[in-house]
Amino acid sequence: MAVERTLSIIKPDATRRNLTGAIVARFEEAGLRVVAQRRMRLTPEQAQQFYAVHSERAFFDDLCAFMTSGPVVVQVLEGEDAIAKNREVMGATNPANADEGTIRRDFGESVEANSAHGSDAPETAAEEIAFFFRGIDIVG
Ligand code: CMP
Repeated sequence: MAVERTLSIIKPDATRRNLTGAIVARFEEAGLRVVAQRRMRLTPEQAQQFYAVHSERAFFDDLCAFMTSGPVVVQVLEGEDAIAKNREVMGATNPANADEGTIRRDFGESVEANSAHGSDAPETAAEEIAFFFRGIDIVG
């Protein structure tokens, strides 16, 4: 295991219900540290670019509309095995399939409004961190 960084997004369904702190607590309890954080409203262009890998999927337009429907909190999480650990704490994409005690099971409303996003691999983590935090000095 190595110390890694991963990109996390607390989604509009969660910021709307004031769940930012509750979700951050789940990360911290799992040993992940928030080493960068920014609350912002995504533009349509940012949402489309961030989720470009899904552009051919039937849910793409709805996903982009949802992700621009309210503020998000983008964060860099750091810790041992952070990419896998973050995904474990989040749970399965669809809250209905997520394990008990995971963020998506406890807070997610639907497969779209599933409260959190996390990078899925080291390459995507590096790209996604750069997408939101390029040029920013991240202090671990
Ligand atoms: P996320 O980890 O942010 O990556 C892509 C998102 O697409 C995913 O979480 C879901 O919230 C969203 N999404 C919406 N519909 C679907 C679907 N049918 N299958 C997979 N992901 C979906």
